[in-house]
Amino acid sequence: MTHGEIVKVAGPLVVAKDLTNPQMYELVRVGDAKLFGEIIELRGEMASIQVYEETSGVGPGEPVVQTGSLLTVELGPGLITSIYDGIQRPLDAIRAQYGDFIPRGVALPALPRDRKWHFVPCVKADDVVVEGDIIGSVQETRAVLHQIMVPKGLAGRIVSIAENDFTVEEPVAVLRAESGEEQPMTMIQRWPVRNGRPYTQRMAPDTPLVTGQRVIDALFPVAKGGTACVPGPFGSGKTVIQHQLAKWANADIIVYVGCGERGNEMTDVLQEFPQLKDPKTGEVLMNRTVLIANTSNMPVAAREASVFTGITIAEYFRDMGYSVALMADSTSRWAEAMREISGRLEEMPGEEGYPAYLASRVAAFYERAGRSLSLGSQPREGSLSVIGAVSPPGGDLSEPVVQATLRAVKVFWALDSRLAYARHFPAIDWLQSYSLYSNLLERFYDKELGDRWSQDIREVRALLQKEAELQELVRLVGVDALSVLDRLVLESAKSIREDFLQQGAFTEGDSYTSLRKQLRMLDVIMLWSHLAGKAASGGVPLGAVLAMPVRIEIARSKSIPETNLAAFDTLENSIKKGFEALSEMDTTAREEYHE
Ligand SMILES: Nc1ncnc2c1ncn2[C@@H]1O[C@H](COP(=O)(O)OP(=O)(O)OP(=O)(O)O)[C@@H](O)[C@H]1O
Ligand SMILES: [Mg+2]
Repeated sequence: MTHGEIVKVAGPLVVAKDLTNPQMYELVRVGDAKLFGEIIELRGEMASIQVYEETSGVGPGEPVVQTGSLLTVELGPGLITSIYDGIQRPLDAIRAQYGDFIPRGVALPALPRDRKWHFVPCVKADDVVVEGDIIGSVQETRAVLHQIMVPKGLAGRIVSIAENDFTVEEPVAVLRAESGEEQPMTMIQRWPVRNGRPYTQRMAPDTPLVTGQRVIDALFPVAKGGTACVPGPFGSGKTVIQHQLAKWANADIIVYVGCGERGNEMTDVLQEFPQLKDPKTGEVLMNRTVLIANTSNMPVAAREASVFTGITIAEYFRDMGYSVALMADSTSRWAEAMREISGRLEEMPGEEGYPAYLASRVAAFYERAGRSLSLGSQPREGSLSVIGAVSPPGGDLSEPVVQATLRAVKVFWALDSRLAYARHFPAIDWLQSYSLYSNLLERFYDKELGDRWSQDIREVRALLQKEAELQELVRLVGVDALSVLDRLVLESAKSIREDFLQQGAFTEGDSYTSLRKQLRMLDVIMLWSHLAGKAASGGVPLGAVLAMPVRIEIARSKSIPETNLAAFDTLENSIKKGFEALSEMDTTAREEYHE
């Protein structure tokens, strides 16, 4: 194996000379400790290497061994339920073998080599297969049927294939290429993490990733195959949102990349995430999840590897025809790592010390989201949705990482510290946030829910907008200066905020709301709003409208069970009856209100 020599060590960055034909992003093993690293700059004779493990004690003169390959991941049965570090080392297997601290240079395979999987073929001898074709499957967990796909570089006529128990390294089939050469095919394949996996065709994202989170689905929806970011200050609810999406979004597979900085952040992920229950199956959520965790004893460089490792695994499941959702919490830690490495490379700094390529690197990551048709003779439709949290210092949204992310994603859920402080959760600011998918998804909603949905949403947006304007006015001249109808706008908007947008992640029955129930909830709020406007215009005193007992029932409609949506019919009738009663109020009663 060819190797060079270390010239200089600066934290996570090592400079080496005398490498043989070094390639950008080639994986190397650094020093006597054989630390994992990746070549990130070639300048003259020198190669700069970002090292994914602690470099203390490593010094000039030690060898740098070239592997001749790029940083790759292993793909195959065994991914689901795994907890990996940034370079796909299995943390649970390592812990079992070495204890809590990962010794440096440890190289355990990502997929267990001894475990047997029951392989069931779906093609037979003499069939011709090409790259991307599914030749069989393995029931990896109860939740996930792992499709075994022909890897890149392999194609031909099946010579033999059989149902049996195999390890990932044992051939499940033999293929004869056109050249006549026979090649065994195993269930494991490898892919370089920085290159997106190929597909036949991209498709416009036109179905929503239904999250069951009302403010998201109704106001700022994300499409299957779409991108979203959740920037927010410390403690504003970024992680809770990511967990809620992992649990409830209609995705088949979850890839969760935890990129922590503070020591305890990652322990939280490692302890909390595996405890999460999958509400759909009642099993643990890990049964359809791959978790990538940057442990705090890993240096910053590994954070970059972790986002690319995560997205490559996610693409692999997308290619099987699944709806995959990747959550990255928080991408700011990755950006900070870029800044540190760039500083050490003495590159020309851009804004706030981040490298000039911050935006393009962030974009390259989000661009791998999408809805696509796979390779193969029977292409499958799959989608990969990517949702990244950003934690800007002080919650400042004008900061470079937020700005770079906003340029790359189509949905912006702005978390607001005042809302979080007031315990309005999810603390998504409805005035600042946006979704560029709203129009693309309208057809879906119209078909699925009828056109009331889009109409309700338009009215809700208008009311919230109007509320903000009126609040300005109230600050200047006081609430008494408002017209009765404007007062009602404030009341309707308040009802939208409290009775619809606020949603308790930890409240059973409220944690998830189906689109159908969301529609019914909006309908009753808007029904009250319309009838209240009519009543007030017809001379019913404002006080009487506001005092209607049915408003309490509207506020309680959150807790109407999904299985009893007919209760909304009853509620609508009570609203109508309530207003009928008001309109029959006699003049003396009306005057009493005015006094
Ligand atoms: N939807 C919600 N329902 C109820 N409580 C919530 C909700 N979202 C957030 N919270 C509350 O806010 C707290 C902080 O949320 P979270 O840990 O997600 O914030 P964060 O933005 O990830 O913080 P950090 O910056 O520390 O990573 C939670 O522990 C919880 O008490
Ligand atoms: Mg968090």
